[in-house]
Amino acid sequence: MIKYLFAKEKNIPGGTAAIFFSFSAIMWFIIGTGIGSFNAAKLAFPDWFTHSYALQFGHMRQVHVHAVIFGWIAGAFAASAMYVVPALGNTKLWSEKLGVWNCLLWNVGLALGLATLWFGMTSGREYSDFIWPIDIYIALCMVLPLFINIFMSIVTRRTQGIYTTNWFFAGSFFMLIIVFLIGNLPEFFHLTGLNEAYMTWWFAHNVLGLLITPVAAAITYYIVPKVTGNPLYSHRVGHLHFWSIVVFYSTPAAHHLMSSPLPEWLKSFASVEGVLILVPAVAYVCNILLTMQGKWAMFVENVEIKYTITGVLLAIPLNMQGGFQQTRAINWYVHGTGWIVAHAHLALLGFSTFAEAAAVYYGVQTLLRRKLYSLSLANFHFWMLLIGFSLYWVSMTIAGLIQGAGKIYEVPYMDIVIAEHPYMIVRWLGGTMVFLGNIVWLWNMYMTVKQGEKLAPGVQPQDVAYAR
Ligand code: HEM
Repeated sequence: MIKYLFAKEKNIPGGTAAIFFSFSAIMWFIIGTGIGSFNAAKLAFPDWFTHSYALQFGHMRQVHVHAVIFGWIAGAFAASAMYVVPALGNTKLWSEKLGVWNCLLWNVGLALGLATLWFGMTSGREYSDFIWPIDIYIALCMVLPLFINIFMSIVTRRTQGIYTTNWFFAGSFFMLIIVFLIGNLPEFFHLTGLNEAYMTWWFAHNVLGLLITPVAAAITYYIVPKVTGNPLYSHRVGHLHFWSIVVFYSTPAAHHLMSSPLPEWLKSFASVEGVLILVPAVAYVCNILLTMQGKWAMFVENVEIKYTITGVLLAIPLNMQGGFQQTRAINWYVHGTGWIVAHAHLALLGFSTFAEAAAVYYGVQTLLRRKLYSLSLANFHFWMLLIGFSLYWVSMTIAGLIQGAGKIYEVPYMDIVIAEHPYMIVRWLGGTMVFLGNIVWLWNMYMTVKQGEKLAPGVQPQDVAYAR
């Protein structure tokens, strides 16, 4: 990387920044899920590892959440956008040099931020736990350079229209800047009480709704038509998806605080809007699944399609849960329980992660012009991720229902802890499978760089059979 930081733009090969972001994202996925597994072990075996101040659960939980969201998810987004946006515009990334610097500053900034959380420096606001100096660094050195590079790559494109994927990338990164600046205002203006709580969840909700969800969708709008060779089923439905996300997803933040003393009209409004999120969800899932017509064999045979379509299928329970769990009738039961933790992982470790993994698998091959080193290792990774995630989601959903019942029927706390204990162990096992699968993934990608079969000019990875 060092040699490219000070190289002339013309001497930096196309795709360099995307490759660096891909491998840094995989590294953070390993680090973040490893910390997740450590935290889960502390919840499954509470007497384990209690002597360390820095490794206490309160610190490590924040470190986990930010490592996986900023390092893996957002890092994989940056990697995907940096090769997909230029490819769709039939051009090169606006600046590989800016991209390489962006990647370096991204990793330095994240490591610094996590160190502050590790040592207890936090805003105390969930999902925006970083203290304000780190927030400013993220805005100026991580998000803004990425947005400029992507936006200028679209402006300098050599194609007529803008394909659905690039709408989503540009729109989401633009909205992220607004969400990030407004969402962190409470810290600058020392807001407290209900105002701070509402702004905290407005930020968390919109990071999920206006960045993670649309960008993961953007990736699938590229991978499925690109790898299957089928045209997207409907561009109009793609536009309906985009605008209905902006309208219905940006407004119902109050549904995270249904048990709080927010005005009842605001909670009713959020609840209705929350159900209307099903409009973009149904439009999206139908559009992608109908694009697969006649190519369903690839769901079994092709690595990228297997990951992508699994992610899309997980979006179905995700949005069904999301639509109904935030209504008053259900929320009072599941709020604050493991059900919500399960739901968060369905969104992040389920839907979003499978789409990003597909984009990284495809990106590394197309940019390096090398075929994937091993199909069996990729399948091993796939099943460790899917089985691990499923164990996580099912066990935490059941634990959540036990906690909800305990809360409602005023069961003594210790009885709830004893009843949910087996599920805490299953969650730890499931999450650890995800962590171990990621290590195998890194090896397979490293071997692809070293020994992957070279692709002839103009040949796509999906046109060549897997070597092993
Ligand atoms: C893409 C991967 C992942 C992402 C983005 C992610 C993200 C998150 C988020 C956002 C939360 C807070 C949930 C909430 O309070 O609603 C959380 C909590 C947690 N995660 Fe993950 N996670 C990932 C993978 C994992 C893995 C593999 C494990 C391993 C077991 C894990 C273990 C935990 C634990 C133990 C908590 C704390 C739950 C609690 O406080 O009860 N996560 N994670």
